[in-house]
Amino acid sequence: MWKLSVVVLAGAATLLAQTYGIGRPATPEQIRDLGAAIAPDGTGLPEGSGTVAAGREVFAARCSKCHGEKAEGAVGPALVGGQGTLATAKPVKTVGSFWPYSTTVWDYVNRAMPFDQPGLLKPPEIYAVVAYILNLNGIIGSDQVMDAKSLPKVKMPNRDGFVADPRPDVGNNVGNNVGNNVGNNVGNNVGKKAKR
Ligand code: HEC
Repeated sequence: MWKLSVVVLAGAATLLAQTYGIGRPATPEQIRDLGAAIAPDGTGLPEGSGTVAAGREVFAARCSKCHGEKAEGAVGPALVGGQGTLATAKPVKTVGSFWPYSTTVWDYVNRAMPFDQPGLLKPPEIYAVVAYILNLNGIIGSDQVMDAKSLPKVKMPNRDGFVADPRPDVGNNVGNNVGNNVGNNVGNNVGKKAKR
């Protein structure tokens, strides 16, 4: 009897959904707000494009109050500099010196920045502000335009600075690299936070 009522209930739920049209497909905006991840190779990047010049405006309006006029750091961490310091006693880890993928910068800004209003920026603004940060770091020229095709092609200075997780319980595949890098970034950020 118990089993029967479960079956009957489950059937009723399906019927209800069909009859009353409960639920609907999530919109692209909703999926984005929930934090759809952009893969290192750029899979998942949306349409739109942004120039360095446009990014300068976005940065001045939305980011500089926390990261400084030229992204040199204020209450938020520096987003420029540090190239060549990673192997020294005082490594300076920034987007320019440490982050292995430009696409991760896009993903992070999309989901987490501005710190006080995450989700505020539209894709073209994110392409633009990421272009500006890359340009400040000397990684792309000031006339380059970032979009779903060009951004994944940008080679970050520390692209080859990460190693696969050597533990035997985890295989040496791409997935692990991603996990490692995310772990490192999180660790890095937590570390920086603790210092402030
Ligand atoms: C209200 C202050 C605030 C604003 C505005 C803000 N940020 Fe941030 N940002 C932070 C803080 C604080 C962190 C560090 C967060 C952490 O470690 O968890 C951060 C971290 C970052 C990082 C990661 C840096 C790293 O190497 O770990 C990036 C990239 C970034 N912000 C970009 C931006 C961009 C682009 C904007 C403008 C669209 C912006 N932020 C606006 C406060 C801010």
